[in-house]
Amino acid sequence: AFTVQAARSGVTVQVPVGCSISSVLLKAGVTVWTSCEQGVCGTCLTPLLAGEADHRDRYQTAEEKAAQNQVALCCSRALSPTLVLDL
Ligand code: FES
Repeated sequence: AFTVQAARSGVTVQVPVGCSISSVLLKAGVTVWTSCEQGVCGTCLTPLLAGEADHRDRYQTAEEKAAQNQVALCCSRALSPTLVLDL
């Protein structure tokens, strides 16, 4: 599990193995827009303020992934203990 903070919403959640960041945030009442839920469309890309994402999408380029400026919430995991989102 890892921690995700939705900074603007003031919500912090634990994302267990097998659950997507987007599904956990939705359950916590944070609006997350998704479409494909497979890392393809880019709908769920959200600015990443802090932390290091384990990108699992196929939407961002390798350069974009390395920049760690945004994260696809439907499929990605975390390499750092916490991800802080501009959400
Ligand atoms: Fe399509 Fe996340 S919903 S990439």
